[in-house]
Amino acid sequence: MPTNRTFTMIKPDAVQDGNSGAIIKMIEEAGFRIVALKKTQLTPERAGEFYAVHKERPFYNDLCKYMSSGPIVPMILEKDNAVADFRTLIGATNPANADEGTIRKLFAKSIEANAIHGSDSDENAEIEGNFFFAHIEQF
Ligand code: TYD
Repeated sequence: MPTNRTFTMIKPDAVQDGNSGAIIKMIEEAGFRIVALKKTQLTPERAGEFYAVHKERPFYNDLCKYMSSGPIVPMILEKDNAVADFRTLIGATNPANADEGTIRKLFAKSIEANAIHGSDSDENAEIEGNFFFAHIEQF
């Protein structure tokens, strides 16, 4: 896995609100190349698997319910320094703390319904990308 990739998904609130196109445009204009993209929906069980690292946290059950409440748009993205640059583009987890011009500042509704995911390490980017996409779907 090259270290210039990250994984993202546009979350149910942003897809439902019709913001997928605007978010993808911001991502491409920031210099990320789309390696893989689709629209799908998680079951609560698969959401639980994706967020297993948080299973002891108080917000875990609500997060799994929310993340399986509607379609999402997962993507693998490529750019130099992809993981860190993408975290900068999306902004803080809580949109109240997100910088102006970030995706979460523009589109997130709350700390839970925060519009978009971004991997926090190269290792997790690879695991998360492979959670959604077969190798023959990654170009
Ligand atoms: P986390 O990995 O801490 O944030 P990030 O997505 O910015 O890497 O948390 C994962 C998701 O869990 C987060 O995007 C939204 C949800 N969450 C809550 O619902 N409540 C919380 O208090 C936190 C910390 C996260």
